[in-house]
Amino acid sequence: MDVNVVSHPLVATRLSVLRNKETGGSEFRSALDELTSLLVYEATRDMAARTEPISTPVAATDGYRLSNPPLLVPVLRAGLGMADAARKLIPESTMGFVGLARDEKTFEPRAYMESLPEDLTGARAIVLDPMVATGGSLVHSCSLLADRGCDDITVICALAAPEGIDRLKESGLPLRMTTASVDEGLNSDAYIVPGLGDAGDRLFGAIRRF
Ligand code: PRP
Ligand code: URA
Repeated sequence: MDVNVVSHPLVATRLSVLRNKETGGSEFRSALDELTSLLVYEATRDMAARTEPISTPVAATDGYRLSNPPLLVPVLRAGLGMADAARKLIPESTMGFVGLARDEKTFEPRAYMESLPEDLTGARAIVLDPMVATGGSLVHSCSLLADRGCDDITVICALAAPEGIDRLKESGLPLRMTTASVDEGLNSDAYIVPGLGDAGDRLFGAIRRF
């Protein structure tokens, strides 16, 4: 699995806003939105575009159109904080959804929702989740896509732990990843260190699930 860690001062400054525990909800949402735009831009450099004739007010020229607009898949809840920015950058995209909540004792994902096209043969999918910790949530989400025939999946996240990257690699799924950072590792609660805390809670507020 190819892992692209984007090294750019604007990515680093947005990530610092997300990491800082003094950052409030509104600023956190804005920083994640901006960071997502930068990561999506980097992750889609190789996306095929075909030419088509267009006319400017002055002359005829070549225009460009994406050959195969992707399916965006935010993983609820926290991936919703990345959905608007990705859709704004790729307005031709379609969007599917996966809803998961990680069990706080076993750290395994519990699925509560999926809304995806039945056949994804030939599709390119971009999965959005700010956090890859144990990797369990993404293995679940990406398996749903692969089971539908998708063999081109890009994961875009703000932070990944080495443990999660290893698990994704071992899954054998057709993945690549773009991230702003690979952090040190996981603590005993399977939180990323230094990380940024609970992304879903910082975006949307804490709710008790288990
Ligand atoms: C967080 C995060 C990922 C998952 C990562 O979601 O957004 O989906 O944990 O952990 P993993 O790599 O160990 O699976 P969470 O389950 O807390 O739900 P939320 O987005 O609703 O807060
Ligand atoms: N989910 C989060 O939101 N943060 C972590 O550090 C790990 C899982």
